[in-house]
Amino acid sequence: MEKAVRRIGVFTSGGDAPGMNAAIRSVVRTAIHMGIECVGIRRGYHGLINGDFVTLNFDSVSGLSRRGGTMLYSARSEDFKSEVGRERAVATCKLLGLDALVGIGGDGTFRGLLTLADKGLSVIGIPGTIDNDIACSTYTIGYDTACNTAVESIDKLRDTMQSHERCSVVEVMGRHAGHVALNVGVACGATAVLVPEQVVNYETDLVEPIRRARLSGRTHFMIIVAEGVQGGAYEVAKQIHEATALDTRVTILGHVQRGGAPTVRDRVAATYMGYEAVRLLAEGKTCRVVAMDGESYVDYDIHEALAMKKGLDQQTYTVMRALTGVQ
Ligand code: F6P
Repeated sequence: MEKAVRRIGVFTSGGDAPGMNAAIRSVVRTAIHMGIECVGIRRGYHGLINGDFVTLNFDSVSGLSRRGGTMLYSARSEDFKSEVGRERAVATCKLLGLDALVGIGGDGTFRGLLTLADKGLSVIGIPGTIDNDIACSTYTIGYDTACNTAVESIDKLRDTMQSHERCSVVEVMGRHAGHVALNVGVACGATAVLVPEQVVNYETDLVEPIRRARLSGRTHFMIIVAEGVQGGAYEVAKQIHEATALDTRVTILGHVQRGGAPTVRDRVAATYMGYEAVRLLAEGKTCRVVAMDGESYVDYDIHEALAMKKGLDQQTYTVMRALTGVQ
């Protein structure tokens, strides 16, 4: 019987995330195990358009699991938005003899895969973003590492905030989603956590928790703000200072959260997802996103996956509100 795929192209696209390398390694090694060749496409869709590739074998992905970033580079491609760009991407696949693509990234990456599926390629998406904001999956590659990196920095900040009896406003990544902020806030025992999914009431969500903390004896305060919160960390700090006169300092953790060696959780999730992606292709499946449902690995049709919505984890949100004293 003829194999469903003979040669796979793998690429990373959008914002990078720790664990993407582990996913690449897993795709390559699983493919080899199943008798399928693998080519790495560099710089995401940009590389697909420009024929920017690297051949990958068992040895070329050795030692990748523990490395942050992505060995295939990542980019956001404007050219891929045009039909001309997409035709050039298909031409690259024809030239290299790729019958399938595995794209590691977020919703934008999956939408791009759909346009290539319409042109006859088999495609599979793997959710990779530190934001954990892909609706079909309870977990995305890079989230755990990013949260751990943020918590490590905040623990250090807390030492100096305590010494000087200050209020710290820490901005974590998450332009549209507050998963990182919420998780990090719970993990570091924040005084208050602000997320873009909720309209912020400065009095009840911010100033009152600070007052309660002061009344119970605290002299330093840790406020976690997701990047997407209206006004950002500086506006939040201004509001706190105006309402309380506290010595308030802003720290923006920024892209440091996207780097570093992936945690065990990210290495393992990435490895399983890479395996699942190739398994699906080998079984003749296409247009699927590998995802996690709790601790299980599942897959969804890409259209179905893109139509799903993901809110904040309500249990975590409830716990955060209880522990910060927000009514
Ligand atoms: O990867 C997702 C994300 O980290 C967001 O949280 C953040 O807003 C964005 O990427 C930043 O993207 P860029 O690296 O293009 O500035």
